[in-house]
Amino acid sequence: MYTQSFNVPDGGQPAPGLQPVADAALQAQFDAVVDADGKIEPRDWMPEAYRKTLVRQISQHAHSEIVGMLPEGNWISRAPSLKRKAILLAKVQDEGGHGLYLYSAAETLGTSRDQMFEALHSGKAKYSSIFNYPTLTWADVGVIGWLVDGAAIMNQIPLCRCSYGPYARAMIRVCKEESFHQRQGYEALLTMMQGTAEQKAMVQDAVNRWWWPVLAMFGPPDDNSPNSVQGMRWGIKRISNDALRQKFVDATVPQAEVLGITLPDPDLKWNEAKGGHDFGAIDWDDFWAVVNGNGPCNKERLATRVKAWDDGAWVREAALAHARKEQQRTMKEAA
Ligand SMILES: [Fe+2]
Ligand SMILES: [Fe+2]
Repeated sequence: MYTQSFNVPDGGQPAPGLQPVADAALQAQFDAVVDADGKIEPRDWMPEAYRKTLVRQISQHAHSEIVGMLPEGNWISRAPSLKRKAILLAKVQDEGGHGLYLYSAAETLGTSRDQMFEALHSGKAKYSSIFNYPTLTWADVGVIGWLVDGAAIMNQIPLCRCSYGPYARAMIRVCKEESFHQRQGYEALLTMMQGTAEQKAMVQDAVNRWWWPVLAMFGPPDDNSPNSVQGMRWGIKRISNDALRQKFVDATVPQAEVLGITLPDPDLKWNEAKGGHDFGAIDWDDFWAVVNGNGPCNKERLATRVKAWDDGAWVREAALAHARKEQQRTMKEAA
């Protein structure tokens, strides 16, 4: 899964602006590569603001993947069948893997994993607002797959063409796995919608709760998203927040019809002239409250994450001790 707009400043960090150009020739070379849709690699010169933007975006993305394991992780022990449990386990493990690829990609830009974890655990770093909502029933697991992973695919496919090589390459595998996540969610919901009246009501209730936060995942409207323009110029962002949101709504409406559920928006209707759906206003105050730490589950998610980190301290210590021993053995043999 993934974070919202990728341009939310972390706590205490100013939004990166353009730095004075140290060397016009290097800048010109960088611009030429980006303009030609080429790739910038870790050893290439890059503007400091480009590097900082990527560190922030990729680390927020990585944090979102691993925090995103928590809402659904709560349901692994309560999955309704062995088959559903195996599917959910695989999906949640995939999200952990996505986090690891992305932390590795961010490390190529000169930050360390310890620094990134410290920022996450101290509450300084942001992650996607969507994971601060609760998963109240089993239907939430299906709806997260269908809508949250579905929104993630819309957002992440353009990132496969991002100008920074390690990020773009990591996203190729991530997108393939997100596609499985979306399908397993939709298929779980289709099954429930063929079940009892209670099961159908459970699906509708989950859709009602997730729909608006999912639309907000695409980030603030374009006219209120100043960093997006620079992101586009650098070839990091390819499609605007509003354009992605529109694509998502248009793709989702027919899927909702097949499922037999109602999307909770009385203003949602096809607009022939624009060739897309019109939809109602998003509650941005709610979005910013959640981004700024006041969502229903922000404190719980962070506390769970920090506890997992603390509980795993002995594993990290044991691995380091083992690595030191191996190194000493190798050195002794070489001597
Ligand atoms: Fe993911
Ligand atoms: Fe996913």
